[in-house]
Amino acid sequence: MVLNFAHRGSLTEAPENTLSSIKKAVAHKAKGIELDVQLTKDNHLVVIHDHRFKRFNKNYGLVQAYTLAEIKQIDVGSSFSKEFAGEPLATLAEILEIVPRNTILNIEIKNIPVIYPGIEETLIHCLAEHDRMDHILISSFDHVALKKVQELDPDIPIGMLFYYRLLEPWKYAKNSGLRVASIHPNVVYTDKAFIAACHRYGYKVFPFTVNRMSQYRKLVEWGVDGVFSNNPEIFTQS
Ligand code: G3P
Ligand code: MG
Repeated sequence: MVLNFAHRGSLTEAPENTLSSIKKAVAHKAKGIELDVQLTKDNHLVVIHDHRFKRFNKNYGLVQAYTLAEIKQIDVGSSFSKEFAGEPLATLAEILEIVPRNTILNIEIKNIPVIYPGIEETLIHCLAEHDRMDHILISSFDHVALKKVQELDPDIPIGMLFYYRLLEPWKYAKNSGLRVASIHPNVVYTDKAFIAACHRYGYKVFPFTVNRMSQYRKLVEWGVDGVFSNNPEIFTQS
């Protein structure tokens, strides 16, 4: 059994990380959905990958410079296609309302390159308020943020993201003193030996981002626990 994640929702079919994108992933019955969170100027969790709007709307700057009310006026849909014109960013709260409770929601704290003080508390508070502490996996490239999450809620599963090729990240995870559920490596260096070493240390392995079926099949042959994918053909495989 593998657990695959629709990466930023279904980003080939709708603007990434928006309600439309998440709805597409839900319609595909994805068992897992991944999204990225950041904070607005007035401390609301919004779902966006980049720390600035540039890629979606050239008229606006840093996400952290705007209040939620201002952000809701910013069109991030038109740059994808006319069909999504006027679509704003979603809040995490809005997304929690539409993702089925048995779907594993991987919330990535996007603390790079902007670090959002207090984002961990805001996130845990939002999940508790929506009674959504189950079927959640919190991940980040910022392992300090993961430590804070675990201090706030020792039971919430955490996934350690690694972008670069490090020496024995499974040992690093163990030495961190955190209770890590899974390692999320860049797929470019994820091979059979990497997966086996993570498994020996008790970690699941979810590489990002796997869009080719041939690459997916190889990873499954090597025993991967699941992948992050932009490709509906892959993220609907189980
Ligand atoms: O969480 C997996 C993947 O989303 C990490 O990279 O840059 O797409 O957020 P990125
Ligand atoms: Mg991400």
